[in-house]
Amino acid sequence: MIEIRSCDGFDELEACVQLQIETWGYDESDIIPRKTFLLATKIGGQVIGAFDSEIGANSAQTLVGFAMSLPGIKQTQNGPQPYLHSHMLAVRISYRNRGLGAQLKWEQRREALYRGIRHMEWTFDPLEIKNAFINIHRLGAICREYRANFYGVSSSRLQGGLPTDRLLAEWELDSPRVEALLARRPAAARTIEERILVPDSIEKWKAGEATRHRAFDVQLENRQKFQKAFSRGLAVLDFSLDAEGNGVYELGPLS
Ligand SMILES: CC(C)(COP(=O)(O)OP(=O)(O)OC[C@H]1O[C@@H](n2cnc3c(N)ncnc32)[C@H](O)[C@@H]1OP(=O)(O)O)[C@@H](O)C(=O)NCCC(=O)NCCS
Repeated sequence: MIEIRSCDGFDELEACVQLQIETWGYDESDIIPRKTFLLATKIGGQVIGAFDSEIGANSAQTLVGFAMSLPGIKQTQNGPQPYLHSHMLAVRISYRNRGLGAQLKWEQRREALYRGIRHMEWTFDPLEIKNAFINIHRLGAICREYRANFYGVSSSRLQGGLPTDRLLAEWELDSPRVEALLARRPAAARTIEERILVPDSIEKWKAGEATRHRAFDVQLENRQKFQKAFSRGLAVLDFSLDAEGNGVYELGPLS
């Protein structure tokens, strides 16, 4: 049985650090240390873990996933508003694709709303089809900002040496769309004006020295498409997979 709850104590936070290293393969310069996880829990952020009580003698050994967020302040029409920036979400490989990633996100949402925080954001690599599927299609985030090479050079093995381009996911925690998705009800249909495709082979291309240039070409081409679409006022409203397994960003006007 998996328990999803806030992490508590140095050992559980250290387990998050170790799972971070296991997931991204970062070198020393990129690792978020335990101190920062601790601060997140003390200044209004979140460190939420998924624990499998059957695999270890103490709770830290049972950590199989975590989501971490930091508090932020955003200027809005109603003045400065607090929000959460979710910085990392990871599930141990052997526990993936059983709903834990989504459960961690829904727990972030529940906990944020409990404290009166209604907005959450995070960035993700637009070439990662699975992440786009979860963020946009499963959770109901939208995107209208593209950050080219956001972090600069990264030692993450998932990045494959490519520029760290990111889409900004914006999650309106109590919007009708997000509530419908949580309840697994169909969300209202929206007008789609443009589609941006990510080839199914992208992960393979990124992983191989000889094929990486193909992934880079897709990144550059899609970067331009996103930037152009966003400058026209379109937003990423949904994401789907086509019959060949390619990822398809669906863009339209925000109503
Ligand atoms: C992203 C991550 C946290 C997701 O965790 P997870 O527990 O596997 O996610 P879930 O099981 O909740 O959801 C996976 C969904 O993606 C779908 N999926 C799996 N592989 C996919 C693929 N290649 N393409 C598209 N969708 C895919 C699954 O079918 C599932 O959808 P469903 O709920 O409709 O069945 C996990 O894959 C991970 O740790 N990745 C490495 C780190 C990372 O990229 N973190 C996120 C960015 S910060």
